[in-house]
Amino acid sequence: MTKSKKDGVLHKKISRRQLLKMTGIGAAGLAIGATGIGGILSTIGKDWIAEDEAPPAKNSVNFYGDHQAGISTPSQTHIYFVALDVVVKTKSELQQLFKDWTPLATKMMRGEIIGTASTDMIPPKDTGEALGLDAQNLSLTFGVGESLFKKINLGDKKPTQLKKLPHFPKDQLVEAYSNGDICIQACADDPQVAFHAIRNLVRAASGRVTLKWSQAGFNAIAKKDGHSQTPRNLFAFKDGTENPRAKEDLNKVVWVQHGESKPWMTGGTYLIARRIQMHLETWDRTALDEQEATFGRHRNSGAPLGKDGEYDAMEIERKDEDGHLIVPNTSHVFLAKSVKARLLRRSYSYVSGVVDSTGTHDAGLLFISFQKDPQQFIDIQNSLGRLDKMNEYITHRGSAMFACFPGVRKGSYIGETLFSTL
Ligand code: HEM
Repeated sequence: MTKSKKDGVLHKKISRRQLLKMTGIGAAGLAIGATGIGGILSTIGKDWIAEDEAPPAKNSVNFYGDHQAGISTPSQTHIYFVALDVVVKTKSELQQLFKDWTPLATKMMRGEIIGTASTDMIPPKDTGEALGLDAQNLSLTFGVGESLFKKINLGDKKPTQLKKLPHFPKDQLVEAYSNGDICIQACADDPQVAFHAIRNLVRAASGRVTLKWSQAGFNAIAKKDGHSQTPRNLFAFKDGTENPRAKEDLNKVVWVQHGESKPWMTGGTYLIARRIQMHLETWDRTALDEQEATFGRHRNSGAPLGKDGEYDAMEIERKDEDGHLIVPNTSHVFLAKSVKARLLRRSYSYVSGVVDSTGTHDAGLLFISFQKDPQQFIDIQNSLGRLDKMNEYITHRGSAMFACFPGVRKGSYIGETLFSTL
């Protein structure tokens, strides 16, 4: 226990562990209501919680910072993505929801259980399926959708950038995989840890949110000489080679800078999720040459066509001796590169059983991109338009956009700026 002086008054700072002991929620336990530990912690003044006392946990991603985790964080091997609709009706109820989620999120990202029940006669506080596993690099990323602002009066907080995406050629979107008031992206190096996190957050919000849609996904990340390799998508191509990584690139492409959107979004970003079915059966009947011409890259190495290394410069204007473009102008990369806009892509493959009507795999890519302005995505998707050779092999089935809050400061809570900043 440490002491701090504030406003001339001596406050005792108490760690979470000490607090849990005092309130009896530790091993001995105390029955607590539906809002759980979050409810209790959020009703106690912030000065009373010394968040920074906890040493870094094994295989954990930092919850606090200028930006939320799970965006520029190196990709984990699994995702569980969920879109929720709110049942709460007022700004203060919504604010309380995010306050209640905060201590649960910090605990789970540290690989800790979220609490124990007081007796064997009531349901355990933590659903328990992650017991014995460490944090598995769990990251939790929260965002809000356009529809939330229609349901809850948040004044003029809705950013102009947060709106429905236009209809793109060949879109076959279904509402069952689209939109939502709130999103939570859980990524971890273990699928059960990712699912456990969402399950427990949704459970703690029982009666306040409903599940709209969700999608599990995976990425196999091979290691070479100790270095993580770019994961391959279900067409077997390396996916994520060209991505902004340096801090200055992220500031240019991903993080909203002061004055670029509503003030509460500074340090945040816009997330676009597209559930894209990939027609594997058609792809598997396609010759390797044709597959490589579809992307403009070699399949095995990931190198630009005509080059050797994955990270060699693409230079789409290169021509062969006969004056023909080496990277076809209908290839995915040629078209994506033809516009100035850039994105941070952080996608995961999915397999979700069988498409009833065709008897084919329901498999594809949960495409996720982060950008400081959704127009960046719109410009690229428009360029891919009808021309992209890859269109023969894919169908966009789901679509959603969320404004992701900036990072959480110690002592604060998820989404605080939405409620406090102008
Ligand atoms: C199932 C759907 C998709 C698949 C399988 C796919 C696959 C790929 C692959 C293999 C690459 C080359 C390697 C790399 O740089 O990562 C690539 C690059 C890229 N893709 Fe996609 N992609 C898909 C959808 C999209 C969508 C919807 C967008 C955005 C509207 C997009 C934007 C880009 C961009 C910006 C690049 C980098 C181009 C550059 O080199 O500058 N992709 N994609």
